[in-house]
Amino acid sequence: MVNVAVNGVGTIGKRVAEAVKKQEDMTLYCISDVQATGQLRSILSEDGSLHGTPLYGSTEDGAQNMADEGMHVDGVLEDVIDEIDVVIDCTPPGIDQKNKENLYEPNDVKAVFQGGAPDEIAEVKFNADANYEEARGEDFVKVVSCNTTSLSRTLSAVDESFGIDKVTANLVRRGGDIPQDSRGPINSTIPVTEVPSHHGPDVQAVMPELDITTLAVKVPVTYGHVHMVTAELEKETSEEDVKQAFRNQPRVNLVSAGEGYDSTGKIHEKMRDIGRKRSDMQEAGVWEETVSVDEERVHWIHMVHQEAIVVPENVDAIRSMFEMEEKQDSIEMTSSSMGIE
Ligand SMILES: NC(=O)c1ccc[n+]([C@@H]2O[C@H](COP(=O)([O-])OP(=O)(O)OC[C@H]3O[C@@H](n4cnc5c(N)ncnc54)[C@H](OP(=O)(O)O)[C@@H]3O)[C@@H](O)[C@H]2O)c1
Repeated sequence: MVNVAVNGVGTIGKRVAEAVKKQEDMTLYCISDVQATGQLRSILSEDGSLHGTPLYGSTEDGAQNMADEGMHVDGVLEDVIDEIDVVIDCTPPGIDQKNKENLYEPNDVKAVFQGGAPDEIAEVKFNADANYEEARGEDFVKVVSCNTTSLSRTLSAVDESFGIDKVTANLVRRGGDIPQDSRGPINSTIPVTEVPSHHGPDVQAVMPELDITTLAVKVPVTYGHVHMVTAELEKETSEEDVKQAFRNQPRVNLVSAGEGYDSTGKIHEKMRDIGRKRSDMQEAGVWEETVSVDEERVHWIHMVHQEAIVVPENVDAIRSMFEMEEKQDSIEMTSSSMGIE
């Protein structure tokens, strides 16, 4: 059993902690944070998904803040760090690096970082489909961002089946998450004026051979990014074969506009209708009508639920770092525990 702590229990941290709790080969040892936020109270409340999980302060001040706000705090994370095998750090960008230097490295504890962490925080950038094996035995791994995860999943499926010469991807990114009221509403479309945007180089961190250029804009929605992708292949193929490559990828779903799922809003509603917790969609959703082939060039449009897609990758990263399971076994274990189709 691997003892796991989740440090920073916000949008990503609370979901990751829930996913770890569902694994039979890992124990959610504790969670830690610095403020008694509404979401922390909710998940630890009697009806909450993490009720009963020990709560520690990430710092002395954090423990004091939360105790002053009436929360039951079991102590400071550093005091129990020897009991922990790996910390999944889901703190805001900047805090993660300080945690590595001040807490994880001095105490010889492995750590998994998130997409906003600086690149130099970990040599290995991780996506389960694209490079599971590279995290084997590593002490520090960074799970790539939500945009990069969906591009890596779809592109690795296509690359494995047909080989890719070159990719151009245009990204339409959500303005903020639902609780990020500080980010909006924005009544604008905001281009990333740096071309290529950082997403292309981010994908190359897990698929180093890939020739990819990305452009990005931000729009005023909260559920889902949309990517328009064109890949030039090494050989001719058919639309049906590309769709089959996506079907074979367990964390990519084909969604049908013709069946009524012709927008991110309608897919969001589907997730609510089928009872997905928080309407989370951990899979990348490729609109099957958009898969089109023109000789050696294939186009498609997919969506990614930014709050959910990286969650299973964090669990798989741990199995690779501790050399617990082979890639496909880990992906299946994580996916089935989380109800991923
Ligand atoms: N949200 C997304 O869509 C998304 C998708 C993929 C990857 N990511 C990445 O995931 C990481 C976390 O993002 P998020 O959206 O989950 O952020 P978030 O919702 O703001 O959660 C961060 C949590 O860490 C807490 N925190 C702040 N300072 C801390 C400290 N010193 N020690 C421990 N905890 C501390 C925050 O508490 P307070 O609220 O009190 O500050 C909050 O509970 C980032 O690297 C981000 O880029 C985010």
